[in-house]
Amino acid sequence: MTPEQIPALQVQSLAVTASRGGRAFPAVRGVDFSLRPSSKLALVGESGSGKSLTALAIAGLLADNLTPSGSARFHGEELIGMAPDRRRALAGSRIGFVFQEPMSALHPILPIGVQLAEGLRAHTGLSRAQRRDRAIELLDLVGLAKARSILDNRIGQLSGGMRQRVMIAMAISCEPDLLIADEPTTALDVTLQRQIIELLRGLQERLGLSLLMITHDLGVVSETCEEVAVMYAGEIVERGRTAQIMRAPGHAYTGALLDASPRIGDTRRRLPSIATSAPWLTDTREMAGEGVVSELREVSPGHWVRDQDQEAAA
Ligand SMILES: Nc1ncnc2c1ncn2[C@@H]1O[C@H](COP(=O)(O)OP(=O)(O)OP(=O)(O)O)[C@@H](O)[C@H]1O
Ligand SMILES: [Mg+2]
Repeated sequence: MTPEQIPALQVQSLAVTASRGGRAFPAVRGVDFSLRPSSKLALVGESGSGKSLTALAIAGLLADNLTPSGSARFHGEELIGMAPDRRRALAGSRIGFVFQEPMSALHPILPIGVQLAEGLRAHTGLSRAQRRDRAIELLDLVGLAKARSILDNRIGQLSGGMRQRVMIAMAISCEPDLLIADEPTTALDVTLQRQIIELLRGLQERLGLSLLMITHDLGVVSETCEEVAVMYAGEIVERGRTAQIMRAPGHAYTGALLDASPRIGDTRRRLPSIATSAPWLTDTREMAGEGVVSELREVSPGHWVRDQDQEAAA
């Protein structure tokens, strides 16, 4: 493969095992997808379907009781099981992560300028003065007017939309190749949601990032991402080109999501829960080897759908 053909991110058979109360269960399993350089993929699905765990496994940010397995290669380099030093060098520099809740992801007391500069100090050779200039430039880039005065603010002093912009500035501060945005707009009202989506889309184009966008919202998916992967109960049940899947979903769950979802473009509602979520999550039979994950089949070029009969039988 030539360098241009190597995916920015290639995820194969990714699984996350959770242990709770002395029992282990698969919270995510058999996740496969690939993201070409400078392309955008959405991961969509109802609450609890495993979107965040997939993203956190890729970014190496899983909680202690969660164990990843399988493969996630970033420009060919394996992330799962990567040495902590190498991981730290990549995270926050070449891989940026936008958390859903800026208030819990950012330090409550440290001024925003200091937090932005700290990432730059850790990952770039910029001088103190250059770091300050770059911090102002970044706040400008994410559309925060009066960037200079915001440097001395704490996160709690800003509005929800401004916090999310600071979060994005932080994530892109070292010019990452890959930006993972975990529900970057869920906590915001409709107008702000639209602005943040526009911002991410603009940055993706301008900086040539690869974007993995996690959302509940099919409106956001069709507006931002050319490709989509639909998660249900810890698995991807369908993936392919967004336009094609929106037009003719191949999996019953995707169809139900589309039916239940508000008009495309209306970002006001969350996706409702379609069926009992992750029925096997509290069940140990999966660990005993039953209920093997069924295969995704390519029903038309680039359009993959999980076998539904096997699933029903499992
Ligand atoms: N630290 C943890 N320990 C045990 N189980 C967990 C842990 N974190 C998440 N889970 C479980 O794993 C499943 C997937 O969670 P995840 O957070 O990935 O869902 P999600 O698709 O991101 O949902 P949401 O849309 O609500 O953010 C859920 O059933 C959740 O309860
Ligand atoms: Mg989540």
